[in-house]
Amino acid sequence: MVKVVYVGFGIVSQGLAEIILNNNSVLPLVETVEIQTVGILDTKKGSRIDASGINMHDVLLNTKEGDYSLLTDTILDIPKAIQEINADILIEASFTDIKTGQPAISHMESALKSNKHVVTTNKGPFAVAYKQIFNLAALLKKNVVIEGTVMSGTPIINVLNNGLLGSDITAVSGIMNGTSNYIFSKMELGMSYSDALLQAQQLGYAEADPTSDVEGLDTLAKVMILANVVFDEQLIQEDIEVRGISDITLSDVKEASSKNERWKLIGSVWKDNNGKVHGSVSPKLVPINDSLYGISDATNALKITSNILGDTTIVGAGAGKIETGFALYNDIISIVNR
Ligand SMILES: NC(=O)c1ccc[n+]([C@@H]2O[C@H](COP(=O)([O-])OP(=O)(O)OC[C@H]3O[C@@H](n4cnc5c(N)ncnc54)[C@H](OP(=O)(O)O)[C@@H]3O)[C@@H](O)[C@H]2O)c1
Repeated sequence: MVKVVYVGFGIVSQGLAEIILNNNSVLPLVETVEIQTVGILDTKKGSRIDASGINMHDVLLNTKEGDYSLLTDTILDIPKAIQEINADILIEASFTDIKTGQPAISHMESALKSNKHVVTTNKGPFAVAYKQIFNLAALLKKNVVIEGTVMSGTPIINVLNNGLLGSDITAVSGIMNGTSNYIFSKMELGMSYSDALLQAQQLGYAEADPTSDVEGLDTLAKVMILANVVFDEQLIQEDIEVRGISDITLSDVKEASSKNERWKLIGSVWKDNNGKVHGSVSPKLVPINDSLYGISDATNALKITSNILGDTTIVGAGAGKIETGFALYNDIISIVNR
């Protein structure tokens, strides 16, 4: 039995809960292991703590209707509650703040200090405090697994950490924001920027406040995470050139099409010949023979350049309830397997 506590019970956490229920709570392990939820902590939707296990079928049935009345407890001090709950793994899927990483950093530190592993899709803490969190985890002999922070359930962190062992990665570059890519794809069909953005919001790709998506801040967080994962380097936000997509006009997009090129919001991190690590976020013209050219709508893709393989491009979902919930599911399995 693996006991988990959720912090933040929004789209992603509900996606994970659905996956666990649909897979009969049994993980594909050497020994079958059941996942039991002993806590749901959400400052706005409500909380519930039950050491004997929460009936997640009932909770999900209610939340589908937008009803959170089964989350009856009011818990304001979330870090303290995390500390006191008897659980094995914290699932951190609360609000992302890429400037401070809070409140998620406090949630994770509280979990690690009370003997819990952490799985998360929250980008903020790993954009600004990657080493702080992983050093604490190493000190306390706990695991922190963050696959869903970049390209949701599409395996990227795993590939960078394990799949290319033995090769020297010199650059990682790609499309890591579905909203921006969706907008460019629709503009190529003649739609205006504002109509394309509205459609992205209606389809649930963009946030109600889409600034972070279209001004490149969401991609910036991912670039900073990748700099840590690939090059063990903590970049400073102010040192990274960040340009969003809002000043690319319909005529810019048409002109690119006429030259067999496409605009893409590209996040990159690379090491120069002197060993210095750089990051950038900017709209770029991608030619037809580039592996990123054909990546359309909300799909994401990351091109990894390494000395032995050359370019390896990974294409897949970059967001979504089940897609991102799967990243957490996979992270939990990897911890149990360890
Ligand atoms: N959705 C995706 O496809 C996706 C993909 C990759 C990564 N992520 C990341 O995964 C995390 C969860 O995303 P989501 O889409 O599930 O967001 P969401 O639907 O907004 O859910 C987050 C939940 O956390 C609650 N919350 C906010 N501050 C909290 C706090 N201090 N303590 C406890 N709960 C708090 C929110 O309440 P209120 O909404 O009432 O404020 C909300 O219920 C975010 O960090 C996001 O950036 C999401």
